[in-house]
Amino acid sequence: MTAESTVKFVKNKVGENTLLTINHSRFSAQLSLYGAQLLSFVPTDNKDRLWLSDTAVLDGSKPIRGGVPICWPWFGPSVEKGLPQHGYARTAHWQITETTENNESVCLTLTPVDSSAILKLPLQLTVRITLSDTAQIELITTNKSNEPQPLSQAIHSYFYCPSIIEQTKLVGLENTEYADKLTNETKQQLGSVTINTSADRVYLSRTSQLELQGQGDKLVISGENHDSVVVWNPWLGAKDMADFDDEGYKHMLCVEMANTQGLTIAPEQSFTLVQRF
Ligand code: BG6
Repeated sequence: MTAESTVKFVKNKVGENTLLTINHSRFSAQLSLYGAQLLSFVPTDNKDRLWLSDTAVLDGSKPIRGGVPICWPWFGPSVEKGLPQHGYARTAHWQITETTENNESVCLTLTPVDSSAILKLPLQLTVRITLSDTAQIELITTNKSNEPQPLSQAIHSYFYCPSIIEQTKLVGLENTEYADKLTNETKQQLGSVTINTSADRVYLSRTSQLELQGQGDKLVISGENHDSVVVWNPWLGAKDMADFDDEGYKHMLCVEMANTQGLTIAPEQSFTLVQRF
């Protein structure tokens, strides 16, 4: 870091968790080491790109509702009974093993803490978060075993929608087939995605760019190496979740770059899933 650099890190302990606030001339951000989860990303226009529930639990006792949870090494319910929904990464404790900072950006490399059970898996995950005018999250998975290993995953971003959700649309998934998880049907997207009731959809899309458009606001969301885009808003179902504030669904949409279609990582190979916004 140079003498004139404006980057500043502040650590704050909440129960078992450590929250890191980063202030840089190009952005401010908050990162939870529990889950390696970005909670807030505010570029110089002072508008947070991410949604975090007012009732989110931050002390490391349960997954954090909002920001960018990481679903890994599986997305959704586990195949094996009794294992947690969305895998282990979001409930693991992480440490920053490398920091690169300059007047343009901050890049943080996170690995699970040494005692973490996640390290006993044949697949190993490194999370790299690069923050500047935009945010980039990379999930770098390496197969440390001698056998091919299945992987499913998602960068489960909760985006803040400045316009109310009914006046927000997601552009870039037109004419794409999707699995509607609420009805178990396969459907075709006609026009841009609009939300006026609960939605839980897995779009079979490898598109590299999407736009979340409101009334006078627009967020570009891009990604690499995904085979699906998951779109989720619980609507009134939010009321049944203690950590989802009742009205929160009106200003959020999860748009997740994901691998849900049967990915296999060969021995000693690495695979990187990327999302940017
Ligand atoms: C989405 C899934 O990605 O995450 C939904 O498609 C799920 O089915 C949602 O309900 C939230 O999951 P969780 O475990 O954080 O409540």
